[in-house]
Amino acid sequence: MAISEKMQDALNDQVAAEFYSAYLYLAMSAWLHSADMPGAANWMFVQYREELSHAEKIFDFVVEREGRALVKGFDAPPVEWDSPLAVFEAAYEHEKKVTAMINELVSLAREEKDYATEFFLQWFVTEQVEEESSVNAIVQQMKLVQGSKNGLYMIDRELGKRTPASATSEE
Ligand SMILES: [Fe+2]
Ligand SMILES: [Fe+2]
Repeated sequence: MAISEKMQDALNDQVAAEFYSAYLYLAMSAWLHSADMPGAANWMFVQYREELSHAEKIFDFVVEREGRALVKGFDAPPVEWDSPLAVFEAAYEHEKKVTAMINELVSLAREEKDYATEFFLQWFVTEQVEEESSVNAIVQQMKLVQGSKNGLYMIDRELGKRTPASATSEE
C-alpha cells in the first residue's frame, strides 16, 4: 500500500529537519575546533554523520513506500556559541525539539492508520531517547567541571574517542 500524501509530506519535512540537524552539528564541530576542543569537535562530527544517516533512512522509506521523496531546503544553523557548555546545551535543546517532531509523526501515522510508518518510526523514538541522554550526560559533565581548563581537557580527551562504530546507536 502506497503512503498517503499527508504522511509523505510530513516525512519529507523530517528529511529536511534531519539535514538541518546534521548541518547544526557540523557548525558546532567547526566552532569546537576553533575553541581548541578537537575531541568535542570529533564527537560532533560523528553526530553530524549520524544525522545524515537519519535523513537517508527516511528518504529511502518514502521511496520504498512508493511515495515521492522531495529534497527541500532548510535554514542555515547558528555559527557562534559562548562556550563548549553552551554548544552542548544547545544540542540538548535541539534534540528535545526533534523528539517532539518524531512524536508528531507517530501521531500522524496513527491517525492515518499507517501501521508500516508507525512501526518504521519506532526506531527513531528509541534513537531519540538515546540521543537526549548522551548529549545530556556531556552537559552534566561540563557543568561539573565549571569551565576549569583541566576538566574540559579531560572531557575533550574522552569525547575524542568517539568513532562512528563506537556510537551506541546503530548507523
Ligand atoms: Fe536525527
Ligand atoms: Fe539527533
